[in-house]
Amino acid sequence: MSENSVEKRILELRDKVNYYNHKYHVEDTSEVPDATYDGLFDELVKLEEQHPDLVSEDSPTHRVGGELAEGFEKLEHAQAMFSLSKCTTSGELKNWIERAQKLLGGDAGSVVCEPKIDGVAVNLTYENGILRRAATRGDGTLGEDITANVKTIPAIPLKLDGNKRRVPQRVEIRGEIYIPLTKFAQFNEIAKKEGTQVLASPRNGAAGSLRQKDPKITAARPLSIFCYSVGYSSDDYQPNSHYEVIEDLRTWKCRVNTRIEHIKSFQDISEYIDSTLEIRPTLDYDIDGIVVKLDDLEIQRELGNLNRRPRWAIAFKYPPQEVETILKCVKFQAGRTGVLSPIGHVKQVKVGGVKISKVSLHNLAEMKRLGIRKGATVTVRRAGDVIPQITRVRQGSSKGDVIGPPSECPSCQGPVYVDEDRINAECHRGWQCNAQLVEAIRYATSKQCLDIVGLAQRTLEDLLEAKKIDSLVGVFRLKKEDFKDIPSFIRKKETATGELIKKRADNLLSAIEKSKHTTLPRFIQALGIRNVGEVTSNALVEAFGTLDAIRNTSIDQLTAVDDIGEIVATNIVEFFADASNVKLINDLIECGITWSETKSLSESEPVSDVLNGQVWVLTGKLFNFTREAAETHLRSLGAKVTSSVTNQTTQLLAGENAGSKLTRAEERGITILTEQDFLELLTEQNIVTKSPSDEQAAAAAND
Ligand code: IVH
Repeated sequence: MSENSVEKRILELRDKVNYYNHKYHVEDTSEVPDATYDGLFDELVKLEEQHPDLVSEDSPTHRVGGELAEGFEKLEHAQAMFSLSKCTTSGELKNWIERAQKLLGGDAGSVVCEPKIDGVAVNLTYENGILRRAATRGDGTLGEDITANVKTIPAIPLKLDGNKRRVPQRVEIRGEIYIPLTKFAQFNEIAKKEGTQVLASPRNGAAGSLRQKDPKITAARPLSIFCYSVGYSSDDYQPNSHYEVIEDLRTWKCRVNTRIEHIKSFQDISEYIDSTLEIRPTLDYDIDGIVVKLDDLEIQRELGNLNRRPRWAIAFKYPPQEVETILKCVKFQAGRTGVLSPIGHVKQVKVGGVKISKVSLHNLAEMKRLGIRKGATVTVRRAGDVIPQITRVRQGSSKGDVIGPPSECPSCQGPVYVDEDRINAECHRGWQCNAQLVEAIRYATSKQCLDIVGLAQRTLEDLLEAKKIDSLVGVFRLKKEDFKDIPSFIRKKETATGELIKKRADNLLSAIEKSKHTTLPRFIQALGIRNVGEVTSNALVEAFGTLDAIRNTSIDQLTAVDDIGEIVATNIVEFFADASNVKLINDLIECGITWSETKSLSESEPVSDVLNGQVWVLTGKLFNFTREAAETHLRSLGAKVTSSVTNQTTQLLAGENAGSKLTRAEERGITILTEQDFLELLTEQNIVTKSPSDEQAAAAAND
C-alpha cells in the first residue's frame, strides 16, 4: 500500500470505529457483531503501529470507552478501569508470560484463569459494606451512575456479608453484568408473543437494560452478575493474591464464577483454555475467551500498566460466536406436520470455530421481525445452542425484496396456508406432499419407532421418485428388483458398472423384515399421530392394552388417562376416524407387521433408583439430547416421565423456547431444571462423562 492509501484507510477506519463505538456505547445499539468491530479496531492499531507518523491524538485507539450518554450522572472511578491485551494463540500467551518474567527478572509465579464473560463491566462501590454507587466503565476514568438500576439486580448484594471476613471500609468491586442464555431465550419468546421489544443479543440486552431511565424496566430484565476483582480498596484491606480476593468476594456473598481456577503450570493453562472451549456451548452465559491473571498482587503492582492495559493480565480470545455474512436466499422445507420451516442459506462463514452455510430462521413472524431481505448482511450467532441462527440484519445493507411466505409448497407445489397469527407457513396436503411423506416414513422407520437400520433419507427419496413406494406400506412390500433403479444401490466402478449391489439390497431387506416384529407402543408412535410421541404411545397401551381398544376410545375415555389432554385426545380420535389411516393400519398388518403388547423396547430396567418417586416432564428444545434419549436416561435412573404438568409432576426439564408447560410448572412451584442442570445430573450419575461435542451436532444441523 502506498503512504497515501494507508492514510486514506486509517481515516476511513477511524470514522468507522468512531461510528460503531458511538452506536454501541452511547446508543446501546449495535449494528455489527463485536468481531467486525474488533477487526476494524485491530487493523487500525496495526496500521498506526506501522506508520507512527500517521498517529493522531484523536484516534479512537487512544481511549478506552466512549462518550457518555446524556441523562446519566458521571461518576469517577476511585481506581481507573482498564481493558485487557489480547492474544489468540498459545505462542502469544507464552510470549506474554516470558515478557513478564523478563521484566520481573524472575518467576512470575502462579496464575488465575477465569472465563471472560461477555457482558457489561460494572464498578460497585461499597462503603462499610453497603452498596452506595454503581457505575459503568465509561471511558475508564468516568463512568455513568447506574446505581438505581443496578440495585434491582437480585444477584448483587446491597450489603456485603461481613460475618466471616471483615469488609473494607471502602471497596470497589468489579464484575460483569450479563443475561443468562436460558433467561434470554425465555424473555425473547415472551416478547415475541406479546409484540414487545426483543433483545438483539444477551450482551446488548444487558447494556440496554442498565441504561434504562426507569429502574422498573431494568428490574423486569433477567440480569445477573459475575464479580471478578476489586479496584480501589481502603487501607484496611490488604490481600496478597488475586485468588484470595476471589475467595473474599465469595465470602462477602458476591456472585463469583465457579470456573475460576488457581493454576501453577503453563501446560495447565493450555488445558484450561481447551477444556473451557469444549464446554463453552453448554454454559448458560456467553464467554468470549479466558482471562489469565498473575496471582501475586505484589507482582501485579511491580509490573504495572502499559497504555491503560495491565501487564499482569491477558485475554485469550476464542473464535467469535457471532459473525456477519450475506444471506443468499431463504428456502422453505416441509416437515412431517406440514409446517414449512424457513432455512436461510448464507455465504459460508466460521462461527465459534464451525463452518456454517445454513441457518434456522424459525418462522414467518421471526423473519418479519428481523426484516429478512435477500442479499442482506446478517449476523449469524451460535451460542448456548448448536443450531446457528440469524440475530440481526444490518439495516440498509440490501435493497432486495423482503422475503415472505412461499407462493407454493416447495415440495408438492400445493397451496400454502399461513396460520391466523401469521407465524407459520403450512402445506396441508399431508402424505400427498412428497416432503411430508418422506418425513413421515423417515419418522416411522427411525430408531425410536420401527427401527429399520440402514434406510437412509436419500434412499427413501429415490424410492419415492422411482415410484417404487408411495407410502409407509410400500417399504414393507419392497423386493430386490426394486433397487435396480436406485443410484446408491448400483455399482459405479470397475467392470460391473450398472449392476445391483446385491449385498446392500439384501441387508436392507433383512432389516425391513426384522422391523416387522415390534411392540405396540412403537407401532402406534410410527403412525405419526399429531402430538403422540413415545410417552403418549406408552400411556395409551398402558391404559387400553390393545390396538382395537385404542382405536375405539372416546375423547372422554382418553382425557381420563393421566397424560392425555383435550387436544391430544382429539388428534387421536380424528386419526382413527379417517378412512385412509384405517387403510394404512390394515395394510401394514397385512404386510406382516406384528407386535407384542408390551411396553416400548426402549423402556429398559432402571440402572439406579436415585430418581425413584420423581415424576418428570420434558418441554422445549434440547440441544445435547434427543427427547427419546433424555427420557431413557431419566427412566434408567428410576424417574417416571409423563407428558403434561399435573399436581403429580415433581420436576420439569425446560429446554429452549419452553412455553405453557413452563408457566404451569412455575405456578405449581415445581422444580425447574435447565438442560445444563440436567447435563450435570447425568454427569454426576456417570451417565454422560463429557458434554457431547457441539461441533458434531452443528455439523449435523448444517448438513
Ligand atoms: S479483569 C484490568 N476478568 O473484559 C483488567 N475482565 O477487556 C480488568 N471481563 O472490561 C478486567 N470477564 O468487562 C476481567 N473475569 C474477568 C472478566 C473481565 C469479563 C471484561 C471486563 C473488562 C474487559 C477487559
